[in-house]
Amino acid sequence: MTALPPLDPTALGLVRPDAPGLARLREFLGPDGLRTDAGALEAHGRDETESLCFLPDAIALPRSTGEVSRTLALCHAGRWPVVPRGAGTGLSGGALPVAGGIVLSLARMDRIRELDLANLTVTAEAGVVLADLQRRVDEHGLRYPPDPASRESCRLGGNLAENSAGPRSCKYGTTGDWVLGLETVLADGTPLATGGKNRKDVAGYDLTGLLVGSEGTLAVITAATLRLVARPRATLTLILPFPALDAAAAAVAALFLDGHHPAACELLEEGAIAAVARLVPLPAALAGQVALLLVELDGDEDEALLDEAAALEELARGLGGGEALVAREAAEQRRLWEIRSKVGEAVKQGSVYKEADAVVPRAALAELVRAARAAAARQGLRAVCYGHAGDGNLHVNLLQGDLPDALWRERRDAAEEELFRAVVALGGSITGEHGVGWTQRRYLPLRHAPAAIALMRAIKRTFDPAGILNPGKIFPDP
Ligand code: LAC
Ligand code: ZN
Repeated sequence: MTALPPLDPTALGLVRPDAPGLARLREFLGPDGLRTDAGALEAHGRDETESLCFLPDAIALPRSTGEVSRTLALCHAGRWPVVPRGAGTGLSGGALPVAGGIVLSLARMDRIRELDLANLTVTAEAGVVLADLQRRVDEHGLRYPPDPASRESCRLGGNLAENSAGPRSCKYGTTGDWVLGLETVLADGTPLATGGKNRKDVAGYDLTGLLVGSEGTLAVITAATLRLVARPRATLTLILPFPALDAAAAAVAALFLDGHHPAACELLEEGAIAAVARLVPLPAALAGQVALLLVELDGDEDEALLDEAAALEELARGLGGGEALVAREAAEQRRLWEIRSKVGEAVKQGSVYKEADAVVPRAALAELVRAARAAAARQGLRAVCYGHAGDGNLHVNLLQGDLPDALWRERRDAAEEELFRAVVALGGSITGEHGVGWTQRRYLPLRHAPAAIALMRAIKRTFDPAGILNPGKIFPDP
């Protein structure tokens, strides 16, 4: 992988740390708390966004909020860029150190501090791996529902910074919907706690809500207190096949109108079905289908869920859908879920790609897929769409195929811009869950009026007047 040249930090009013500066960080972080070896720099120079890589000057690995505070105070005094990082599983380049500087990894702050069963909350540090947190609460019959695809490796802090989500946001909402309080450190090293364990609190502005999803640009989140719920007693997964995209989209709208509230409602269109079929053997019933809806139901009793599945199948048949595949046993449910969860990997194996994380009001789902196909076709590209139909949020993957690089970049950008213009015209947005980060920032003005962007920039300056936190992200170049 070749690293790209970093943005000029001096143009941002910043400088790259020098050797004596790094030595001062090492004094309190310890020899393994500050890494500058080539392997570590390369590994922390990228996330999971395409093949982008920008080398930082060093990686700070604090073990406590106090160490984060001291690290930030020094970086602030030196005007060094600081890029907070969880596991680096992001898909919009949020963790890329585009101006060099210090990658502030929260990986060693991975303790679950408190499971409060009386209040049904858990307080955990930013570096905890999401699946570890979920397994821990699961032992008590509880659930922390947000489920980004990377949950086995992503860290809570990254989820909070990006306000990440996954299939279950259909019923349970996004990361931010579960956050009651944050422990953070401001750009100059000042610790700041927001919220707490209260279920309601309207004293002043909602700083917790502002910091969740701020992509590491306003403060460094070091820990969070999260709400928990009882784990549902029963779950059931089904796949509804459709011979036409419009029928699947109509089924999504109809099932909510009928009073169903699935935990997840995911769509795969033709290209996604074909891609995943290369990785996962598809049941015969799904061969030749043009669109699939994968639906997860949860509740108190298996029997009630089976009745609901039958009702959904009938609803789908009324729209031209075929026989449903229904899975009750956990292993069978996992097999059906694989058909959805392996799509991303399958697409990426087939071609270099660019992913647009488009979201529209749910009723415009079919129009979104058509807009994606039209924008891609105009540039001679193919678009593969899949994702969170229940949220109107689809991952549109544009594929390079065998196009030469320069032509690909030109056509990809043109197709993506046309797609986002169409998405905004449908009342949608340029990202539903992956963030603006580095790769989507030039589209921010399509989504927000100049007055809104000016307000966001003013908020950024208020939190971080020196501009050291995650420079170059969210906002297009002025
Ligand atoms: C997914 C990731 C790409 O939904 O967000 O698979
Ligand atoms: Zn997704």
